[in-house]
Amino acid sequence: MEKITAEKPISWLDGVDPKTGIIIQERHDLRGKSIKGKILEMPYSIGSTVGSYTFFKMKKHGTLPAKIVLGKPDPITQAAILAGVPVEVKGVKSQRIKYSVLTEGIPDRILSFIEAEAQVSGAEEVIPIASAHVSGASYELIGDAGLEFLEELASEGGKVRVPTTLNPVSLDLEDWRQLGFSQEYAEKQARIVSAYKRMGVNPTCTCTPYYAENCPLYGQHVSWAESSAVAYVNSVIGARTNRESGLKALASAILGGTPLYGLHLEENRKPRIKVQVEAPLRGHQYSWLGYWIGVNYGEIPLITGVKNVSRDQLKALGAGGGASGKMPLYHVEGITPEALKGIDKSRINLTVRFTLEELNDVRNKLTTTGQKPDLIAIGCPHLSLKEIEVIVQKLKGRKLECDLWLFTSRRNKIHASRTGWTTTLEEAGARLVADTCMVVSPIERLGYKITATNSAKAAHYLRTLRGQDTILGTISELMEKYSREV
Ligand code: F3S
Repeated sequence: MEKITAEKPISWLDGVDPKTGIIIQERHDLRGKSIKGKILEMPYSIGSTVGSYTFFKMKKHGTLPAKIVLGKPDPITQAAILAGVPVEVKGVKSQRIKYSVLTEGIPDRILSFIEAEAQVSGAEEVIPIASAHVSGASYELIGDAGLEFLEELASEGGKVRVPTTLNPVSLDLEDWRQLGFSQEYAEKQARIVSAYKRMGVNPTCTCTPYYAENCPLYGQHVSWAESSAVAYVNSVIGARTNRESGLKALASAILGGTPLYGLHLEENRKPRIKVQVEAPLRGHQYSWLGYWIGVNYGEIPLITGVKNVSRDQLKALGAGGGASGKMPLYHVEGITPEALKGIDKSRINLTVRFTLEELNDVRNKLTTTGQKPDLIAIGCPHLSLKEIEVIVQKLKGRKLECDLWLFTSRRNKIHASRTGWTTTLEEAGARLVADTCMVVSPIERLGYKITATNSAKAAHYLRTLRGQDTILGTISELMEKYSREV
């Protein structure tokens, strides 16, 4: 059987065309080559945790690789097992697994997936988890193949055993008509949410459930998908999760357990590089820093030179790193809990500087046009109440010259309506949108071609998934440029 080797990691969500099996990832060594029917050797994956659903799409189109051989354990790629692709990790031998959770009543395919995951990752035990967060809820991203899988699993009696929340879907579940979506599209999305509900998943439809519905405690073992949320619970809260695929987080939630390896183990949480921040960072520019670390290094960084950073800014930092690379954990000196406890720096073998030059490089790379935007999209990850309040203050007495959509959770949208913020926003021409975001919603089919944002993660995926020209700027810059006093 033909073998094909990828030198660079693959982003399954936007780096491969499921219809052809051809690698389309920018600057990838296999770009333009097909992996269909071949033995694929690759180091690991990067990017979105929803990428695991790409394997179901490939199965539908008959474009799956025959086998995958990984350089190191990688939960997102290992989800290919559920689509029938054998996965191996170089140098890992199979062994007997000890289950410290009950396995009775668990659907066979979930149990065999967890067993295979434990085998390829070299784990010897499956440990209990306290909670899960599942990605792979947007019909736009998982398509009919994902919908069918979820409905089948719900019919087989799959039920979560731990508190489990859900990532954003492809539309605002209440206001989809006003936003221009079709009935047929909304119905498919509703079927996905319904399948998750039948499995006992709390349909929060937000990537920031840690603000309210699902907040792990320091040191707890959990199984979370959604790369930005993974980075937040590991780094800011100090709970322990691998960067799970949406499918693996769901399987773990159903079993109530996960194989013990990777970031669940203390020794794997130590920083490998030091990033000295010398650029002054404002607002969401922390996502630009994360993006730069993800693109260039993709290791667990110890970040120094940062003071007075808010939790919202740390949220942005992890989102940027998770989009461009693989940064499921970072430490910020004097701020994040494991760094505060005193961190073992013995594995750091590289120190790099992030200056104004690097900051401007990120802005330039993610700004693809000098034209005026059709849409400003803010809220990747979903906005907190504090962030919404800041934007409301900035927009008082102003009128926007293009559309402005602010993405947040349903809970925050209700709060904004009760406090009168929604009225102020609507008077300025802005709109608060819940349950979804600019990346997982097909905004290009609503007529948008140029989108401005403050988020490096959003700018990255707006180009690769939504075909947008993008403008990256801070909220203050965008409001000043594209709104006027009235
Ligand atoms: Fe959240 Fe969508 Fe960004 S899921 S992190 S707002 S891409």
